[in-house]
Amino acid sequence: MSVDLAVVPVAGRGTRLLPLTKSQPKEMLAVGAKPVTQYVAEELEQSGINRMVFVTGPGKQAIENHFDPDTELITALREYGQEDLLESLDFERMDVDYIYTRQGRQLGLGHAILCARPVVGEQSFVVALGDSIIGVHAQSQIVKDLIQLFDSEKADGVIAFETVPREEVVRYGIADVRTNHEDWFELADLIEKPSVAESPSRLAVAARYVFRASIFDYLSKTDAGKGNEIQLTDAISAMIRDGGRVLGIPLATGERRFDIGNFPSYFRAFFEFAIQDPQYGQMFSKFARERLHEMDTHE
Ligand code: UTP
Repeated sequence: MSVDLAVVPVAGRGTRLLPLTKSQPKEMLAVGAKPVTQYVAEELEQSGINRMVFVTGPGKQAIENHFDPDTELITALREYGQEDLLESLDFERMDVDYIYTRQGRQLGLGHAILCARPVVGEQSFVVALGDSIIGVHAQSQIVKDLIQLFDSEKADGVIAFETVPREEVVRYGIADVRTNHEDWFELADLIEKPSVAESPSRLAVAARYVFRASIFDYLSKTDAGKGNEIQLTDAISAMIRDGGRVLGIPLATGERRFDIGNFPSYFRAFFEFAIQDPQYGQMFSKFARERLHEMDTHE
């Protein structure tokens, strides 16, 4: 495939998850048995991405530590006869080059991506939000599909979308569809957090994108928008207005985006991954069913 590099922005403050995120990155929160960014890295690796540029910021060192091979820990596990735990560190051996760059000031997602420009240069690249998991246990093929369509249609950008309930459009970038094709569509525009009444669809951006390097030119010309942040959505809109071809692919049926950016969504994600955990899932489901039943009968 033509694209083997991803930018993973992880520099956000995560204020919607305070106090949890006061001294730890939201991208390192546990969802079931793994931290969020590990799912993101595993999903990207199995989609053929072997260079990942993490855009980090203050207080995000735990992410770098997590992906460093820890030979002392491996030796200690062997010494204490805990070889069975070695498997849980298999992700350290993924064939991936991790590159870290900084966003010194948190000026928004668009700005974070722009901070990766000196590393990315002129190549096309994936953007994968470091606080969002696609599908349970990161088995999603969406990034492969995005890259394939990007190549075959010679697009300027391709974005993953998820259909959300109408009342939730106010939280996302929403697609204004120009034309529908069999399993993808072309965008007429992308609207950041529209009101329910003004929303052109229920198709919400789902945390995975592929872009030509020309997106950097649009990001560098984008002024601060909603929330006084440089919005990626505004740069994509400008690209479309200039005649750029931006396409969308809906997530596969049954596949969901887990956004670890707010409490309701984080709790749902943890619950879903816990009940589907290969080792503890059955036990936890039984506990959850019994507990809910107990609560119902005591109401
Ligand atoms: P969010 O849009 O959820 O923003 O980030 P946030 O600042 O992290 O969270 P709140 O609004 O304060 O609760 C989506 C992704 O973009 C990254 C985040 O780390 C997250 O992975 N991001 C966001 C940056 O890298 N830099 C920013 O300035 C903003």
